[in-house]
Amino acid sequence: MIIITNPPQKFSGELVVSGDKSITHRAMMLGALAQGLTEITGHLDAEDCLSTLRCLQQLGTKINTRGSKLLIEGRNMVFNEPAEILNAGNSGTTARLLMGILSGQSFKTTLTGDQSLQRRPMKRVAEPLRSMGAVVDGDEDGDTLPLTVQGGTLKAIHYNSPRASAQVKSAVLLAGLYADGITTVEEPYPSRNHSELMLKQFGAHVKSSGSKASVEGQSQLKGCQLKVPGDISAAAFFMVAAAIVSESDLFLKDVGINPTRSGVIDVLKSMGAEIEISNERSWGFEPVADIHVKGGSKLNSTSIGGSLVPRLIDEIPVLAVAAAFAEGETVISDAAELKVKESDRITELSSQLRKLGVNITEKDDGMIIKGGSTLSGTEVDSCGDHRIAMALAVAGLAAQGETTVHNADVIGISFPGFMPSLRSLIVKKPFN
Ligand code: S3P
Repeated sequence: MIIITNPPQKFSGELVVSGDKSITHRAMMLGALAQGLTEITGHLDAEDCLSTLRCLQQLGTKINTRGSKLLIEGRNMVFNEPAEILNAGNSGTTARLLMGILSGQSFKTTLTGDQSLQRRPMKRVAEPLRSMGAVVDGDEDGDTLPLTVQGGTLKAIHYNSPRASAQVKSAVLLAGLYADGITTVEEPYPSRNHSELMLKQFGAHVKSSGSKASVEGQSQLKGCQLKVPGDISAAAFFMVAAAIVSESDLFLKDVGINPTRSGVIDVLKSMGAEIEISNERSWGFEPVADIHVKGGSKLNSTSIGGSLVPRLIDEIPVLAVAAAFAEGETVISDAAELKVKESDRITELSSQLRKLGVNITEKDDGMIIKGGSTLSGTEVDSCGDHRIAMALAVAGLAAQGETTVHNADVIGISFPGFMPSLRSLIVKKPFN
């Protein structure tokens, strides 16, 4: 449970947010697949990434720490048959990307997850992997965990994915590493491209342009040194907090601004938030920058849909909070994927924000938020979803009175340092 009291006067200071979750998962997995040692710094130490780490260890990967570094001894594509079921916990990325890797192994593995993950669709990954030659079995024709994956000889495919999903794309590309020939995934819109960029860094032959990515099978991955940028999905909570609390002045350092992830910056800017990007550079192939947000600007409503959605899918809960403080009606469309995230984010987020006084209407593929109501602190619930918990805490910052977020321990899934960081930036109004 977390309690947010009294609106702060401002939200100010400097912060280095935790490492990017998507990039950390991939760094661990590609490090395990490679030949030789991979050294990772800046990785995210949170429950989801620990799920990936534990599964890789169960598959025989040796992983050690030296100071702040994570050292992965690569297995050169071949893993050991695990003695026990692999458990991806709450992490969709762990489960789906591992399914791709397991498709290339010569043994059968059982994979499961927590209650939330057991409700999430897996056939979107099972189907293309089956067409490559893997045998994926489970309830509802392999749509839900627990699942078994029997790997084998794989053939390269050209997969036209019906949705923009980096998890599906990455699973197919990882399986493609084991096939002969070139495996290609084409999506309706580009999804995050961390797998492609990192595969390139490990020396694989990868090509990508627009919404199409290809990998050459039997590419040799070589262990390397990786520095993980700050997570823009974590930074987004602080960006919105600074934008909605007047007089705020916030510096976020070393944040990943990969264009396939940075939709939240574009949207907040288009709503009128004062955001400046500086010190742009690259860590490996990933673009990184510092972000300066000043509060006090009047926010306007916006509309979010189409190709913008995959560029900010995980930031929609906190963008809905920004919309609640904007003038006019914000419409979010083409985001039905929100229903199959860690919770049904359309229904759960709407019901919790409504308790705080937000005027929000659910749609099949998104929501409509009428901004401008005064929010009043009350008791809300994370609904078991880490991003809803953090979005509600941010809403509570700008609500009148006290907001209590129940079941907030789920924040540890992606951002254990969230509350200490938030509290360190709060500057309270002096007593009258
Ligand atoms: C992720 C991709 C996205 C995102 C998830 C992480 C990844 O999911 O929502 O939190 O690391 O590849 P989809 O690929 O299902 O859109």
